[in-house]
Amino acid sequence: MGPNVLWLTEALCQVMALEPGMRVLDMGCGRAISSIFLAKEFGVQVWATDLWIGASDNWQRVCAAGLQDQVFPIHAEAHSLPFAEGFFDALISLDAYHYFGTDDLYLGQYARLAEPGGQIGIVVPGVQHEFSDGLPQHLAPYWKWDFCSFHSPEWWRDHWTKTGLVGAVTADTVPNGWTYWLRWLEVAAAQGFRSDEREAEMLRLDAGRNLGFTRLVARKT
Ligand SMILES: C[S@@+](CC[C@H](N)C(=O)[O-])C[C@H]1O[C@@H](n2cnc3c(N)ncnc32)[C@H](O)[C@@H]1O
Repeated sequence: MGPNVLWLTEALCQVMALEPGMRVLDMGCGRAISSIFLAKEFGVQVWATDLWIGASDNWQRVCAAGLQDQVFPIHAEAHSLPFAEGFFDALISLDAYHYFGTDDLYLGQYARLAEPGGQIGIVVPGVQHEFSDGLPQHLAPYWKWDFCSFHSPEWWRDHWTKTGLVGAVTADTVPNGWTYWLRWLEVAAAQGFRSDEREAEMLRLDAGRNLGFTRLVARKT
């Protein structure tokens, strides 16, 4: 569902340290492709948690991958997650955290699921810098209201740091992330899957000046 979730997962894993046997929350996992990848690639256990995609749907994919002992699908809303405090070694979220995590108070309930020192990492669509002088002219015709959830690495770093709940916060833009986003839209269109030509046009015009993927990693204090 994310453009493309495996590329985003690889980008996040470059800045996180995942070890075999770790308990990982994949928050907003969609079709659990990232969860399956993480289990196979790193030998971690993954709680594949999502709202729009049901647990039974994801379980079929988990079984097809032969990962019934490692990937556990959960159907849950981000504000009522059925997990014990401190249960996870790492919390990851790909192209999903911006749907619920821009709320000032959200990190409080999310971070409590990680053990002290546990890693928290997200990749979300974002911008290089906040648009303090308004929207760049070339983006205006394409801008949808919900793109207001796209934020810069600095914005996300402040958003998390000011809570004092996490430390060692590093934030950047995924190198060439916009090209992954665009390539995925082009591949999907060429293969007859759902795509968005307007969005592709916007990305080509912008050419990475503003749009891309923001990557954020921290440790629970
Ligand atoms: C764009 S999809 C990305 C899915 C997947 N991570 C990927 O990249 O393919 C966003 C996901 O966020 C999840 N999501 C959005 N709001 C949510 C909420 N309030 N609680 C739980 N999940 C939520 C949706 O269920 C959806 O699968």
